[in-house]
Amino acid sequence: MGGDDKQAAIDTYGLEERTFPPPLEFVANALVTDRSLQEHADADHEDFWATQARELLTWQRDFDTVLEWDLPFAKWFIGGQLNVSENCLDRHVAAGRGDKVAYHWEGEPGDTRTITYAELLDEVQRFANVLKSLGVRKGDRVNIYMPMIPELPVAMLACARIGAPHSIVFGGFSSDSLADRINDAEAKVLVTADGGYRRGAAAGLKPHADVALTNTPSIEHVVVVRRTGQDVDMTEGRDHWYHELLADADPVCPPEPMESEDLLYLLYTSGTTAKPKGIMHTTGGYLTQVAFTHKYVFDLQADTDVYWCAADIGWVTGHSYIVYGPLANGATSVMYEGTPDTPGRDRWWDIIERYGVTILYCAPTAIRTFMKWGTAEPAKHDLGSLRLLGSVGEPINPEAWMWYREHIGGGQAPIVDTWWQTETGAIMISPLPGLTVTKPGSATFPLPGVGAEVVDDAGHKVELGGGYLTLTKPWPSMLRGIYGDPERYRDTYWSRFEGRYFAGDGAKLDDDGYLWLLGRVDDVMNVSGHRISTTEVESALVDHPKVAESAVVGAKDDTTGQAIVAFVTVKGDVTHSVELGEELRKHVATKIGPTARPKTVIFTDDLPKTRSGKIMRRLLRDVAEGRDLGDTTTLADPAVVEEIRRRATTAPQEE
Ligand code: WT7
Repeated sequence: MGGDDKQAAIDTYGLEERTFPPPLEFVANALVTDRSLQEHADADHEDFWATQARELLTWQRDFDTVLEWDLPFAKWFIGGQLNVSENCLDRHVAAGRGDKVAYHWEGEPGDTRTITYAELLDEVQRFANVLKSLGVRKGDRVNIYMPMIPELPVAMLACARIGAPHSIVFGGFSSDSLADRINDAEAKVLVTADGGYRRGAAAGLKPHADVALTNTPSIEHVVVVRRTGQDVDMTEGRDHWYHELLADADPVCPPEPMESEDLLYLLYTSGTTAKPKGIMHTTGGYLTQVAFTHKYVFDLQADTDVYWCAADIGWVTGHSYIVYGPLANGATSVMYEGTPDTPGRDRWWDIIERYGVTILYCAPTAIRTFMKWGTAEPAKHDLGSLRLLGSVGEPINPEAWMWYREHIGGGQAPIVDTWWQTETGAIMISPLPGLTVTKPGSATFPLPGVGAEVVDDAGHKVELGGGYLTLTKPWPSMLRGIYGDPERYRDTYWSRFEGRYFAGDGAKLDDDGYLWLLGRVDDVMNVSGHRISTTEVESALVDHPKVAESAVVGAKDDTTGQAIVAFVTVKGDVTHSVELGEELRKHVATKIGPTARPKTVIFTDDLPKTRSGKIMRRLLRDVAEGRDLGDTTTLADPAVVEEIRRRATTAPQEE
């Protein structure tokens, strides 16, 4: 326990002793079972990545310079030319794998579509020609605002084919968010749909797009996919139906040769207050690292695996691990349009059973929701096909990790807890499932070719205990900047610690050198001079058998500076009470120490989350400190906060 060390950037509390070596049957067929990749990367960082780039991708012209690094600006694989859609499609078809399934797609209402690599290539070429016919040229930006339907990857790959960077805006975002992003990118064309299915109903998209379009002067044409069949307004001359354009399109569109450093896409990160940042990802380096990580982190057996990343393509997870990584590797994926509780709370487990999914990649928020819903739902289905599980997006609490392993992974499947960001483009810290001994809740080690270190306030390397997670070396899929704002790029990521990339996460190193992510450093609480991470207190709460999920915040306190306020969601069959609140406060004190004992426990049926599932602690801090709520527009469900506020005013407090 490091709770007494006042010098530490973040105090840490040892929570977890369990270890899980990779199962023998897994190791027997695993792609990585020794340290040779790591040794290669340690011996020669550039040669390591050059080798991956040449092994995993097909280049129209080989590169002559591996890396040009002028901090914070990197260029990878200079002189090389390639096309991303050719790497994702043509080369697999040319190798005789055209009949292989690229996507088993399933709509929320239960309609399905099986798309082979040959079919995907055909539709992509036609749609690439459609974009050209609408005046899109190499370098022009195309905005995409779509539900999770097959036409979404088609649109992305068609853009990549002709060298037009795409900018996807998550379908749940508002008209204003869409307009801001279109205008920042000055996109020429918008691809959207009439609507999509969510929670059993058709939700409109085109009506939102129409509002945005009143204020987006750069847009010349709008392409609309008919998904729900609902009535939509079509503006003559500007708006066109996808199926009509596609029917008339030329079926052949050769892939445009692109420079390695040409822009592949922009993806805006939704900062909660500031203007969204258009994160830039380029071609050769990005595709190299997403292909590398998708292959080795997920131990992809391309001939037999059925892989499912249950994210939305509107987030970077979907860009890298539904579209570009899996397709570059010729994988077979499942893609699902809707929510996990439609028609029943076993929809995911039903999908896994029916398609024989072998690899599942999802977010801790989903896992904690399933914990809340109870073990009976997964138990209704045979999940025996699953051989590997992944997690991304937030720290996964040790008990959620254990639940995932037991109830989804059959007590067998290794779990890869993958740390990365929109900005990193690809997974940076993760176990290699055939090699790494895992600990529940730890993302373990940086992958080969990645330099990560924890530092203290002064930027000195920390060997044991808590601090700031920094990246020490350029990596191929790193962001190349913020669109139109190089100074903001330098200030945001490269100015806090000299020579290091820092994007806001706390982390600790344990005695065995394992990395544990501690959440955003902005959320770190200061209780009587102890800097306590939200993650460790939340994990101690989730460790209690009656708790499914929790969020803790530091609220102003006259005696201790800040006091810990815990918001707690209990499992489905549990009723909460004042006694349970007291029990939980004690549980935290016993588990990790009295300093971390919450002053107040507030029970709530739900927590406020962003649309990508991250807990919004800022709003909970507002509630805990009795302030008016700030901006709630990025919330998945704004009503949740009102309910929590009502509960907060009646919660009993510690004497
Ligand atoms: C932030 C990045 C990475 C794709 C989806 C999110 C948090 C992400 C983990 C993990 C602990 C994690 C970090 C990071 N995060 N993965 N395995 N353990 N925290 O992308 O929206 O850019 O968010 O998500 O705080 O900085 P993003």
